[in-house]
This record gives sequence, C-alpha cells and structure tokens, in this order.
Amino acid sequence: MKKIYLDNAATSFPKAPGVGDAVRHFIDQIGGNVNRSGYDALTSDEMVFETREMLAHFFNFPTPENVIFTLNITYSLNFLLKGLLEPGDHVIVSSMEHNAVMRPLMQLQEQGVDFSRLVCDELGRLDANSLHTLVRPNTKMVVLTHASNVSGTILPVEEIGSICHEKGLWFILDTAQTAGVLPIDFQALKLDALTFTGHKGLLGPQGVGGFLLSEDLAQRMDTLVSGGTGSLSEYEEVPPYLPDKFEAGTPNLPGIYGLNQSLNYIKKVGLATIREKELKLASYLLKGLDEMDGIRIVGPRDEKERMAVVSVDFEDCDNADIAYYLDKHHGIRTRCGLHCAPSAHKTLGTFPQGTVRFSPGHLNTIEEIETTLLAIGQGLRELRNTRVRTP
Ligand code: ALA
Repeated sequence: MKKIYLDNAATSFPKAPGVGDAVRHFIDQIGGNVNRSGYDALTSDEMVFETREMLAHFFNFPTPENVIFTLNITYSLNFLLKGLLEPGDHVIVSSMEHNAVMRPLMQLQEQGVDFSRLVCDELGRLDANSLHTLVRPNTKMVVLTHASNVSGTILPVEEIGSICHEKGLWFILDTAQTAGVLPIDFQALKLDALTFTGHKGLLGPQGVGGFLLSEDLAQRMDTLVSGGTGSLSEYEEVPPYLPDKFEAGTPNLPGIYGLNQSLNYIKKVGLATIREKELKLASYLLKGLDEMDGIRIVGPRDEKERMAVVSVDFEDCDNADIAYYLDKHHGIRTRCGLHCAPSAHKTLGTFPQGTVRFSPGHLNTIEEIETTLLAIGQGLRELRNTRVRTP
C-alpha cells in the first residue's frame, strides 16, 4: 500500500532532496570534530559556521556567532527560559502554547517564577491588545508560538513585538510551525530571541535545532549545559563569548550538514512557492471536509490566518479509531490526540478528546488529498456512532 504522509507538523517527510546524501557525506567522508583538531576538521568548522551564517541570513539576524545549535526547539526553549528567568519574575504566554514552553514554565513556577496566559478565542486567534492588561511591574518576557501546532492559527507577532518593544519586555518566538514556510524577520519583529527546529519546515534531519539571541540576552543568560568547547582549554570556566558559551560538547555534525543542504533547497524553491503549495493542499482538504457531516474542523478558515495544519474532531467516532483506520486501511499518516498542547486544545474546545491532525507539506499532491478525503468518507461510514463519550 502506498503511504500518504500527512504529519509534517510533527516532523517533515520527505526531507529536502540531498539531505540524506549530505548526512552520509559527513559520516563517510568528513568525520572530523569542530574546534578540536587541526587536520581535516577545518572542513566541518567551515560548514558549521556557514550554516550559522545561512540561518542568520534566513531570519534576517545580524550576528552569526549568536546563532546557537541545540538538539531541537524544546532544548532551545529550555535554555532560554531556565537561563534567563529568576524567582520573582513574571512571564506572559498565549493559551495556544506547546508543552515545550509550558512544562519548563511549570518547573520554574515551583522556583517562584509566575506566568499568565493571553486567552485566545475558539479559533485560536489572539487579540494583541490583550497583552496590555497582563503586563505587571515584574513582567520580564513574552514567549509566543508563531502558529499553533494544533489549529495552524497564526498569532499576531508583529503587533506583539511592537508592544513588547514599547514596554521593555523581552520577546521570544517559537517558530516550530512556521520556519521554512513563512518569512520571519528577527529585526522587523523586534525579537530578543528566536527558537527553531531543523526537522519540521526547515526540512532537515531530526536532532538539530537552535536559537538566535540578542547580545543583551547573551550577556545576561546563564548556560544550561557546560563542558568542553575546544576553546580556552587552559581554563575550567565557561568561555564568555558566543557561540562557545552555549555550545558544550560535540554538536550534531551530520545534522548540521543535512540542515545546510535543506536551507539551500528552501532558498532555491522559495518560501512563497512552499507557502502557496501548502495552502492549496490545505484549502482542498478543508473544502472536502466541509461537505462531510459529523465533523468539526478546528481553527480559522481564512488562509491568511492559518498554516496548513488541519485538525478535525470526528464528533460521532473516536478520533483515535479514525486515525488508526486511515493508517491501517489506507496508509495515511496523521497525528491524533492532544499534540503535546493541552492548553491549545482547551482553548479550541477539543479537550480531552483531542483531534486528528492532517498536516500536508509542499511535496504532497492534490491526488493524495483526494485519496485522503475518500478514505475519511469511508471511515466515517464504517465507524459512525462508535464514539465513547467521557462523562
Ligand atoms: N510538536 C510536534 C507536533 O505537534 C511534535 O506533533
């Protein structure tokens, strides 16, 4: 059975052409560490720095040295939240955040850091002006997802950036669902830090992500992880400069080689083309779903307000049964449940049952969406009235 992969919000597949070859090239042909050895390691040094420069350029960020590699965006958010916040500080987030933000904040709350949520509407939309009502004298930062991983709703980051700037709050952006699809300009958004992951819209391998941060935050922030950097090895203290301050241990070099390749691919194809294709697929899917009974589509319908993340609550069937049926009988891969974002599901009215999430990427085809719609129709006929309702 031919598989149809519609789970790009979790991790993109297929990867950009050439990513597998780039990873293999590093492993089979290069092999040397960075900053550690004189010999051929210069090749990986150059590639790592080139990738920092490409990311800086991609996000319109002036300082490649302040592009830090981590394992993924969850690590990046942990670095920033735990490295910057102190007991007595207050943070503002939206009600659409992923647990990559909420779980570190819940841990920090036990150490005396307080947080408030900007309440989004039932489509996941945020009124930026509501930020004014939550700011307190001890508010230090706003952390926001650029778009929801559940409903695809895009949040008003330009307006939030301006308000943060005016009020002297740090603004940290989670680009997990938008990098590689929407243009993101660090300076125009007045960001203080931006977190990214390589394996979703950036079409690179898993295990490589990172963050970009202003010099001011770089100076104030403690590092979560310390160790060997191959620099200042005569000292046991953490080097004070970037990227070394935040990058201890051997990085994911195969991953960085792969990401370098995928960034080149995205540059060649262009964000506008990727966005246009994804929206075309999502619109086709939404239109087909509209004609079906017994389902609730989550999130805004105006394509300017959303990503190609289409979450559906099958009101008469168990969502997990539908997802299982689509995979087992039609090879259609989705993600069902709460998507590590309980607060977003509560906002959208889909807690605790969750949704089945369809997230096409620009390499999917209209034919695959047609097949998916037919399969959903069949699944609905076979599974209708099987939902077990929670009291
Ligand atoms: N956060 C990813 C998702 O939404 C893994 O599926």
